[in-house]
This record gives sequence, structure tokens and C-alpha cells, in this order.
Amino acid sequence: MADSYEIRRFRVSDDGMPGYTQGADWLQAVGFGFHDTRRNDAFVEKILAMYRVDDRELTGVYQTGQVAPHSLGANVPVATFGTLRKDLNVGYGRQLRTHMVTAVTVRGTHRRQGLLRRMMTEDLSSAKADGLAMAALTASEGSIYGRFGYGVATFERSVRVDTGPRFRLRHAARGRVEIADRKVLLDLAPDVFERVHRHTPGSIVRQEAYRQKVSGAVGDEGKEDEAIKCALHYDASGAVDGYVSYKFAGWDTKPYTIELVDLVAATHSAYLELWQFLGSIDLTERVSWAEAPADDPLGWALEDPRCIESSDHRDMLWLRILDAGKALAARRYSADGSLVLAISDSLGFADGTFLLEVSGGDARVTEAPSGVQPELSLDVAELGSIYVGGVCPVTLASAGRISEHRPGAALKARHMFAVERAPHCLTHF
Ligand SMILES: CC(C)(COP(=O)(O)OP(=O)(O)OC[C@H]1O[C@@H](n2cnc3c(N)ncnc32)[C@H](O)[C@@H]1OP(=O)(O)O)[C@@H](O)C(=O)NCCC(=O)NCCS
Repeated sequence: MADSYEIRRFRVSDDGMPGYTQGADWLQAVGFGFHDTRRNDAFVEKILAMYRVDDRELTGVYQTGQVAPHSLGANVPVATFGTLRKDLNVGYGRQLRTHMVTAVTVRGTHRRQGLLRRMMTEDLSSAKADGLAMAALTASEGSIYGRFGYGVATFERSVRVDTGPRFRLRHAARGRVEIADRKVLLDLAPDVFERVHRHTPGSIVRQEAYRQKVSGAVGDEGKEDEAIKCALHYDASGAVDGYVSYKFAGWDTKPYTIELVDLVAATHSAYLELWQFLGSIDLTERVSWAEAPADDPLGWALEDPRCIESSDHRDMLWLRILDAGKALAARRYSADGSLVLAISDSLGFADGTFLLEVSGGDARVTEAPSGVQPELSLDVAELGSIYVGGVCPVTLASAGRISEHRPGAALKARHMFAVERAPHCLTHF
């Protein structure tokens, strides 16, 4: 990278402090990178307040030399990168502190000069130095992050569900659903999500923006979103164990459609009963959901699974293992046995040959003694992919992404890395 740039890292301070103005300039750059309409001061203030709750660290790359006359000033970074740290469910309820990377932009007029590479490698180094074993992101394009050791770990899809007469679920309701004022989600949504997070491998704790968004407290323009509607699911004892936040797409959209903003259910019956409710909304014939799970019980509960039109099956969570020994030891495994894994890592954070020994589901991870032959060789990106059980090692071996040195080793890895239920990440960041 040319010397004409300087990287600065900071946290947002209270309104009126220098870090606040710096944060506002940084947000302007992020908005530009993602083609957003420029946000007004009141919206910026709300976003920065949410960043403070999450204790985000903001990174900006600033021009140090002469800035072209009339162009954006040197105070607006030409590249941005944001991070926060939350827990990842790595299976069987075990939690691993994870470094979440977000808001990655490089201004078009400054790209392909190594700015992303420098921000990413410096950031991952400092996360590793802080003792973290895992980093994560969600990607706008599929070809950018593999080179930095990230692997796709969970998937999602878009669905359009026909809620006309053929929508019938094989499920006898155990609880009930009631409409609520959207604002109750400000308090209820985090509690319900927490329960879901505890039993969902691949789930990451949500950032502050979620409860604000799903309750309509902070809409896309930064104002209250009065279009949001909310229904709650109550279990047999009357406790809230699920919710759906949704909007009506308008009378110009045919068939008349409900668009889901968020659907979070802590039990299987709450999930199906919220769908029963969605299927019963008068004057509408379709529900669309852009963040549906890839492995979805809904299809199996419907009398006619073809009510679901599924599209855009896509990668969701990408994981980047920073310390292979620590990450492997953090998991609980579905099968006992031992496995020798040779991990390569072009950035040098996680490479080595490891002996994974599992007994009673618990792991002991050591450096493999010299002379011991690996059973599988894989890049750290592939280890990230199989880590929460969402990608099958046998498939990666078939694709040439994992080398199997002992026949059956990939299948053994599949059994060992399996998790108790389908991995799914409900948190976009
Ligand atoms: C994607 C983006 C961040 C890349 O920034 P950059 O500073 O130009 O990237 P670098 O110059 O550091 O390049 C790093 C590497 O990534 C590659 N790369 C960069 N952008 C890429 C893209 N869109 N697709 C594939 N590869 C890409 C480069 O070829 C380079 O490869 P190498 O180091 O192996 O030779 C930038 O183009 C951007 O801001 N895009 C719009 C916003 C966006 O998509 N952000 C990602 C959000 S998840």
C-alpha cells in the first residue's frame, strides 16, 4: 500500500466528542460503499448510539497527502472496516467468542491498491493477539473472502409461500398466537432470540440494531417504521416463546403478500404455529421471507410441500478460524474417535498438524507428533466450513477442497463434526 494512506481505529464517543464526528464521517463512507441514500444527522446519531451499545471498533483508511480539490475531504475515509465481538454457538450449546467483521468498503477510486488486504490482515492479527480463535462475516460477493481464510459455514434461502387454500399444516396447536403492538419487541425480541441462539448451532448473538429494526423503532430511513406488524406466540403456560415481525407489501403487489422482517421461535411448535397464523391472515395469499433456513421443517409439516417456492439458496455465515487448536477444542463432537488434520493457512494464523481425540464428545487437541501422517489435509477456510456441521467434509473431498489420505477419513470427520440440529445463522451483520 502506498504511504499516502493512514489507518485509524477508534470507537464512537458521545455526541459532540471528536470520536463522534469521526464516526459520522466513517458512516458516510460506509453508506457510499453500499449505495445508500445519505443519512440525516438524526439517523446517524441513532446508528452511532447502537454502535456504542455493541462496543464496535471502527477502522478507517484516510488520505494523508493532497486530497483532490472539491472531492470528499481527508476526514472521510476511503476505506472502512467495522468489528464487534459476540458469541457463536458452535454446537451443543457451546459458545465461542467471535470477532465479527462488517462494513467492509473501499471507495471505487481507491480500490485494488491493497487496502482491503491490509485492513483484513492487520485486523485478524490483532483479534488473534487478543486471544480470539474465530472471526466471522457475511459477504456481498462469493469470491472475495476465501483468500483470507474464510469458509462458508451456513446457508439461507428466499421463500415465497402460497398461503391460499392448499396451505395446510400437519400440526395440532399447543399454544396460541396473538397480535401485539410492534414496540413490545424492543424488550421481547432479545429474550426470544437468546433462547433460539442457545439451541441453534451456527447462531451468533445479535447486535443492538436487530431489536430496533424488528420492532420498527428504527426503520430504514431512521424513523419509526409504522408499517411493521407483530404477532407473538405463547406456549401452553402463557409465556412468549416466539414472534413474527412483518409488513403488508401493499395493494399493488399481487398476489397480496406478507413480507417477513423476522421470525424467531424458541420451540418447534412455536415455529409451526406462527406459520399457521401467517397462513390464516385474511386478504393475503402469499408470505415471502428472504432469510428462511435452508433446512426448514416447514416443508415437512405442510400437507403440500409445493406451497413453498424456494429461490436464491445462498451462503450466509463465513467463518475464519484464527487458532485451530483452540477452535477444535471448543467444540463438542457427535462421534468419538481420533483424526489427524493438516491445516494450511496462507496468513499463518492457524496452520499446523493437529491430533483431535474425542472421548464422550469432549475433545483433546494436541500438535500431532512428528512422523504421524495426516488423515485429511485442508485449508483453514475448509475447516471453517465444516466447523459448525453445515458443510459435509465428504462433499468438500469430492470437490478437491479436502485431501483424504486415509480412505473413509472424510466420512469419519462428517460424523465427528455433525451437530445436534441443522446449523442456521439468524444474524446478518
Ligand atoms: C471488495 C472490496 C472491499 C475490495 O477492496 P480492495 O481494496 O480493492 O481490495 P484489495 O486491493 O486489498 O484486494 C485484495 C484481494 O482481493 C481481490 N478482490 C478484491 N475485490 C474483489 C472482488 N470484488 N471479487 C474478487 N476478488 C476481489 C483482489 O484481487 C486482491 O486479491 P489478491 O490480494 O489475492 O491479489 C471493494 O471492492 C469494495 O468496497 N466493494 C464494494 C463493497 C463490498 O462489496 N464490500 C464487501 C462487503 S462484504
